[in-house]
Amino acid sequence: MTQTPLNPGDSPLVREALSSVVSRETSATPTAAQTPDGGDGTWPRPSKTRVIAVANQKGGVGKTTTSVNIAAALSMHGQRVLVVDLDPQGNASTALATEHRGDVPDVYQVLVDDLPMADIVKQVPDMPNLFCAPATIDLAGAEIELVSLVAREARLRRALAAYDAIDLDYIVIDCPPSLGLLTVNALVAADEVMIPIQCEYYALEGLGQLLRNVDLIRAHLNPTLKLSTIVLTMYDGRTRLASQVADEVRSHFGDTVLNTVIPRSVRLSEAPSYGQSVMTYDPGSSGAMAYMDAAREIAHRAIVA
Ligand SMILES: Nc1ncnc2c1ncn2[C@@H]1O[C@H](COP(=O)(O)OP(=O)(O)OP(=O)(O)O)[C@@H](O)[C@H]1O
Ligand SMILES: [Mg+2]
Repeated sequence: MTQTPLNPGDSPLVREALSSVVSRETSATPTAAQTPDGGDGTWPRPSKTRVIAVANQKGGVGKTTTSVNIAAALSMHGQRVLVVDLDPQGNASTALATEHRGDVPDVYQVLVDDLPMADIVKQVPDMPNLFCAPATIDLAGAEIELVSLVAREARLRRALAAYDAIDLDYIVIDCPPSLGLLTVNALVAADEVMIPIQCEYYALEGLGQLLRNVDLIRAHLNPTLKLSTIVLTMYDGRTRLASQVADEVRSHFGDTVLNTVIPRSVRLSEAPSYGQSVMTYDPGSSGAMAYMDAAREIAHRAIVA
């Protein structure tokens, strides 16, 4: 555990964002070359289910794109993966071709009405190891309705703990762009937080608040929660700004940042409208290859954690 050094040259924005960082777990990360894949293309399965909350209260930074594509990539390498759509927008459900309109049972009913997780989880079409717990627009009401419920911060954790139906290796929770009770539920249910950071100006704005919340949840509700992964998204190699943001993030967060950077790729933004991850929509595209590499890094971190 290390203290984040603040450099005199940091912009005020960076200083604000990082001043709240009191601790970060930085695990030694072997590269894929050090821990080769299984000969049959499978990656090592974690010894227990890894629950990863993908969070950043800033909108449009790539939370859903990251959740869906990392999950798809893992599932294509022998991992059994559930994506929990915790955003009333239902974007992850759409991208995974999982019905989430009308009166489909959804995460709202799990959180508010105690419906078992098994009643809402669907297998993703053509992806035998990938599952989705969909969100309908009803979930928008949950932020308010949860307030008056018992154990309102731990409803998702409880539901997942009771759900052992399909022998999962990973549960990836796609959070909404807010720090309300839905995101709190994700952080209480998770072992790990993954933060996508968009490589643009203002990228670090608000990060301090998110990290403070992670610290608070660790202190009061989920002592083993760790910030395991930062992934740089929408990287445009033609701009100096993108590389400056990437350098700045790396200088503060070290090994927590994946070596793989996700480039801007039109294919990534097209795939959801076909109800697919980019892994099947265009596996040879730069976005698909980057998410495959990112998922490989995450899978191999598991065996040293
Ligand atoms: N690497 C990328 N290259 C190009 N477009 C991208 C990339 N990543 C995401 N996008 C597009 O940017 C938009 C925002 O991405 P995404 O929905 O994943 O972000 P989000 O953080 O989940 O947003 P929200 O906060 O609304 O939930 C989407 O239209 C998505 O298709
Ligand atoms: Mg989203």
